[in-house]
Amino acid sequence: MAIQWFPGHMHLTQKAIAERIKNIDVVIELLDARLPGSSANPMLAELTHGKPTLKVLNKQDLADPLRTEAWLAHYNSQSGTRAIGLDASVAAPAKALIKASFELAPNRGGMVKPMRVLICGIPNVGKSTLINTLTAKRATKTGDEAGITKLEQRISLASDFYLYDTPGILWPRIIVAKSGYNLAASGAIGRNAFDEEEVALELLDYLKTHYPALLEARFKLDRAASMADEELLVAIGQKRGALQGGQKINLQKAAEIAIYDFRSGVMGRMTLETPEEFAEWLKLGQTLDAERQVKKDAIELDRKIRFKKIPRPDLRPSR
Ligand code: G4P
Repeated sequence: MAIQWFPGHMHLTQKAIAERIKNIDVVIELLDARLPGSSANPMLAELTHGKPTLKVLNKQDLADPLRTEAWLAHYNSQSGTRAIGLDASVAAPAKALIKASFELAPNRGGMVKPMRVLICGIPNVGKSTLINTLTAKRATKTGDEAGITKLEQRISLASDFYLYDTPGILWPRIIVAKSGYNLAASGAIGRNAFDEEEVALELLDYLKTHYPALLEARFKLDRAASMADEELLVAIGQKRGALQGGQKINLQKAAEIAIYDFRSGVMGRMTLETPEEFAEWLKLGQTLDAERQVKKDAIELDRKIRFKKIPRPDLRPSR
């Protein structure tokens, strides 16, 4: 079953971003470097109307460095877009954000035309951590002057550089099934919204193909790449003593171990998608979504006809 999750306050967040975007020069989109495609929000692109965008691949310390390079190159080749890698250990993130933003909007700067930047990101991507680092020893304004909404935060990173943090989170409809699994594995989705065993099996399926040596080293396994996903989960349970009643493997516990070890980075630096893979998954997801929509429209039309809200269309061939 694919993962689907809709928090209730989406509408308010959308409204807040749509309002703020009018006076914004650059949008900073925080992405999880382990799943850049899946942690992006397509709705944000619609809301920001082609504003210059800085993609920040955050938590780069957990991601596969070679793949981070590939994602940065992918984004940097797009017009109006720049990308940098970042993580919580970077001592002065403001410097990198300021430099990249001025490259995207070189006409801004100075007291008359200060740079105005909006920061957005899905849950757990590290936005609060980054903002805490940025606000340390800096004045932060929260809704205390005209044009700043009550819950909004404005951080001044330089005398002519304002960073706005709009409250709430944006969550898209997940149309790429793989993205749902990757988001769940990364910790972006609340644990009640997915089945750990299902997510762990998807995760192991990917890791055994792309990072077999790291998997084998972490769980002291041989030939992980040639094992079936379920077999791999059982082996992890065995190695880590995830047992229940007698000697039966507790698959739920084994799944939690696999997911936790991935999230915390103890298995090693791993990235769950390449730009090419994600492009393929997206294409497939969009096709399936369009098919679903056609079916939904047909059901809706049929419902309206049956309740005589509209006349049945005449489908006989015309003479
Ligand atoms: P959010 O506001 O976007 O929801 O995310 P938040 O900053 O709360 O960060 C979510 C989790 O990710 C936190 O861990 C945080 O410590 C961790 N994190 C943030 N930035 C980085 C990074 O660059 N690298 C790594 N490895 N981790 C990062 P947590 O376990 O949920 O909380 P805590 O144990 O840190 O308190």
